[in-house]
Amino acid sequence: MKTTEERKQHWEKMYQTRSPNEVSWYQTHPEASLKLIEKACPNKSLALIDVGGGASVLIDHLIHVGFTHLSVLDISAQALQYAKDRLQDKSPQVQWYVADILTFKPPHQFDMWHDRAVFHFLTTADERHQYVEILKNSINDQAHVIIATFGIGGPEKCSDLAIKQHDKTTIMEELGNKFTLLETFDEYHLTPKNIQQKFSYFHCIFNRGALL
Ligand SMILES: C[S@@+](CC[C@H](N)C(=O)[O-])C[C@H]1O[C@@H](n2cnc3c(N)ncnc32)[C@H](O)[C@@H]1O
Repeated sequence: MKTTEERKQHWEKMYQTRSPNEVSWYQTHPEASLKLIEKACPNKSLALIDVGGGASVLIDHLIHVGFTHLSVLDISAQALQYAKDRLQDKSPQVQWYVADILTFKPPHQFDMWHDRAVFHFLTTADERHQYVEILKNSINDQAHVIIATFGIGGPEKCSDLAIKQHDKTTIMEELGNKFTLLETFDEYHLTPKNIQQKFSYFHCIFNRGALL
């Protein structure tokens, strides 16, 4: 299991040496995430967090369609700086957190949790357990959770790091029975170098009172 410092060093170096639109996970229009979020959250004042949002333009689109209670968390300060610089005077509309998700202490609870391509970096059972405990402490009852990981048969590494692929069975085993899967689908992402990567999206709802 890596330390927070080791993780941070990796990601700061990554964003200091690569521009945001040349990284393999770059999307100009995060269509799948946007569709899921808008369907799950017709109320635009709900509290949404993009976990490991990095320099993603998802936040720009969410501001554009009218969401008013937005947070982005990332372990890399440099990644968030790219997003803040791009958003300019819209940047103060967002709460920015430079933090390791595995040690995050939420300032309040969220109604929507979005994570594209962070959970799959958790390659040990302990890390995944820690993530799920923090997730459960960070969200309201009936919150929506969207997690996208590399799917089975997809890439085995991202950003030179080993990853763990997921399907609906493994993801639901990790999340546990307080989560109900509402929808899952695969997306074939094209990297800036035109390489196809299989992502699997999982949209769940949280029920704090579900019996063990
Ligand atoms: C593959 S990128 C995906 C970025 C963004 N979600 C997207 O879809 O464009 C993974 C992101 O997660 C961040 N990250 C990795 N491990 C993290 C952790 N333990 N806590 C918080 N952020 C993390 C990285 O800095 C990076 O920005």
